[in-house]
Amino acid sequence: EEKKSGHSHQRGRFSGKIGYVLAVAGSAVGLGNIWRFPYLAAKYGGGMFLLVYILLTVSFGYVLIMSETALGRMTRKSPVGAFEHFGKSAPFKVGGWLNAVIPMLIVPYYSTIGGWVIKYLAEYFRGNVQKVSEDGYFGSFIADSWQVEVWFLIFAALVFAIILGGVKNGVERMSKIMMPLLVVLAVIVAAYSISRPGAIEGVKYFLVPNFENFSWMTVVAAMGQMFYSLSIAMGILYTYGSYMHKKLDIEQSTTQVEIFDTGIAILAGLMIIPAVFAFSGGNPETLQAGPSLMFITLPKVFATMGVGTGAGILFFLLVLLAALTSAVSLMETSVSTFMDELHWSRGKSCILMAVIMLVFGSASSMGYGILDFLKIFGMNFLDFFDFMTNSVMMPLAALATCFLVTRVVGYDRIAAEIEQSSKFHRKGLYRFFIRYLAPVCLIIVLLSSIANVLG
Ligand code: PHE
Repeated sequence: EEKKSGHSHQRGRFSGKIGYVLAVAGSAVGLGNIWRFPYLAAKYGGGMFLLVYILLTVSFGYVLIMSETALGRMTRKSPVGAFEHFGKSAPFKVGGWLNAVIPMLIVPYYSTIGGWVIKYLAEYFRGNVQKVSEDGYFGSFIADSWQVEVWFLIFAALVFAIILGGVKNGVERMSKIMMPLLVVLAVIVAAYSISRPGAIEGVKYFLVPNFENFSWMTVVAAMGQMFYSLSIAMGILYTYGSYMHKKLDIEQSTTQVEIFDTGIAILAGLMIIPAVFAFSGGNPETLQAGPSLMFITLPKVFATMGVGTGAGILFFLLVLLAALTSAVSLMETSVSTFMDELHWSRGKSCILMAVIMLVFGSASSMGYGILDFLKIFGMNFLDFFDFMTNSVMMPLAALATCFLVTRVVGYDRIAAEIEQSSKFHRKGLYRFFIRYLAPVCLIIVLLSSIANVLG
C-alpha cells in the first residue's frame, strides 16, 4: 500500500528551469568547492587530480546525477521512499537508508569547518589581517578546543535558526545575489594570486597533469570529492528531483550544474594552489596540509594585498553564506527523512539532529586539541568522518543506486522519464556508464579505501 508521506500531498514544485538549477547549485556550491577541492588537488597530484576529477564528473557524475534526479522525479519521493517504491525487502531498505544517513553524518563536521570560517571572519573584522597570516596561527587555533567548539556552536545555531525560523527561502534568495559576487571576488583573488612571483609554478602544478603524481589515492580522493561537491549519493538529488517539474530538461540542467560547480572549484584552486608556491615556495609540507590549507594559505595572500582586511571580510563572508546554504540543505534533508519516514514531528526531528550535531560535531571540533589522543585508523574525528562518508559510504550508496537502475527499475524506464521533457542526447553513453563503468569504478574505490585504511 502507498506510504503516507507527510509531504507528498503538498509536495512543492520548483517554479522553473532557472529556479531548479540555482537551487541545486546552491546546495552543490559550498565548502566542498572552496575548502575541500583545493586541498585535495594540492595533496593528490595537482593537474593529475584535476584531470581525473573532470573525467569522473562528465562520465560517472553525469550518470549518477541523471539517475538520482530521474528516480526522484519518477517516484516523487526522497531516497528511502524512492527505494521502497520498487520493493519492500531488506536490500531496498538498506539502499534507501544508506543514502539518507550520509547527510546526517556530514553536517556535524561540515559545521566544524563552518565555525572556522566564522572565526576567520571575526578576526578580519577586528583588523587582524597580519596576525592570522603568521605561521602556526591556524595550528594553535584548532588546538584550542573550547574556542573551536564555541565557533562550531555559533555556526550550528545559525543553521538551526534558519531551519526553524523558516527563513530558508530568504537565505536562498540572498545566496542568488551572493553567488555571483563570490565568483567575481574569486576571480580577482585568483588573478592576484597568480600574478605573485613564483606563483606560475603553482599554476602549472595545478593545471598540467603529470603522470608521476598519479596514485590510486588520486582516483579515490577525486571520486569522493565528486560525490561531495555535486551532492551525489546522499539523497539530495532524489529529493530535489521529486520537486522537479516534468517539463524540465534533466540532461541540460545536469550539465549546467556540473559546469557551475566545477568552475567554482577550479577558481578556488587557482586562488589557493599558486599561492602555496608564491608564499611557501611550493613547500611539499604545505601542499600536504590537508583540511587546513585554505586557512593557512589565503590569509598570506590577503596580508600582502593592501586591501587585505576588506578582501578577507568579503571572502569569508561569502564563503560563510555558501557554507550556510549547503549546511541548510544537508540539515533539511536529514530532518525531512525523519519526518517522512518515521512520521516524527519537525520539532522532534530537529532535536535528534541537534543531539547528533552536538556529539559528532564536538568530537570533530576537539579532534585537533584535547581529543588529539583519540585516533580511528590513525585519523582524528574530522578526517575520519570525512573519509568514512566520502570514500566508503558514498560509493556504497552510489552502488545501490546503480543496482536499482540496472537490476530493478530498468534502464528503459529511466530513459522514458528523461524523455518526458526532451530528447535524451547521451543515451548510449548513459547506458554504457551505468552498466559497466560505474560498478567497476565503485568497486575499485571501495577496495582502495579499505586498503588505505588497513595499510
Ligand atoms: N556539495 C556541498 C559542498 O560542496 C556539500 C553538500 C553535500 C551540501 C550534500 C548539501 C548536500 O560543499
